Amino acid sequence: MAEYSLNPKEKIAQIIRINHAGEYAAIRIYQGQLDYTKDPKVKKIIQEMADGEVEHLEYFEQQIQKRGSRPTILYPVVNCLGYALGAITAKMGTSAAMACTTAVEEVIADHYQGQLNELDDSESDLKASIKKFRDDEIGHKETAFENGAKSAPAYPALSGAIKFGCKLAIKLAKKF
Ligand SMILES: [Fe+2]
Ligand SMILES: [Fe+2]
Repeated sequence: MAEYSLNPKEKIAQIIRINHAGEYAAIRIYQGQLDYTKDPKVKKIIQEMADGEVEHLEYFEQQIQKRGSRPTILYPVVNCLGYALGAITAKMGTSAAMACTTAVEEVIADHYQGQLNELDDSESDLKASIKKFRDDEIGHKETAFENGAKSAPAYPALSGAIKFGCKLAIKLAKKF
């Protein structure tokens, strides 16, 4: 696999690119949900989670500059598909929107955990940020469970399909 030929600097640039794409996807998903959610109480919950993602995205945007990385070339695709996923699940109802969040956040939290296991302590600043973001994503996942994710129609299938899509997106952002 190509990744074994990456030098440490390229490896970090790749990590930054994937995480940047993931955080952007999260923002677009939440934006789609916000645009198609009417209940003000639910909107507030989603907005709070979306605000957290802005901090995450900004961090990786700065890192792109600092580390000689670049955004994924799939950025426009992430934009559209992320938004569509959020809009469709919100249209299905609050529980489906929350099921989407549990699936996405679980994959992102696991992805961050994988990076924490992989990075060595020479990257202590990056690791500290990823650790914080991982905890935020776990918090988002818990919020979504508390707000009825499991009552979504066909929860296991819906959740499974979204997780599959997220893992595929990570693989694509790794390459492109
Ligand atoms: Fe995030
Ligand atoms: Fe999140």
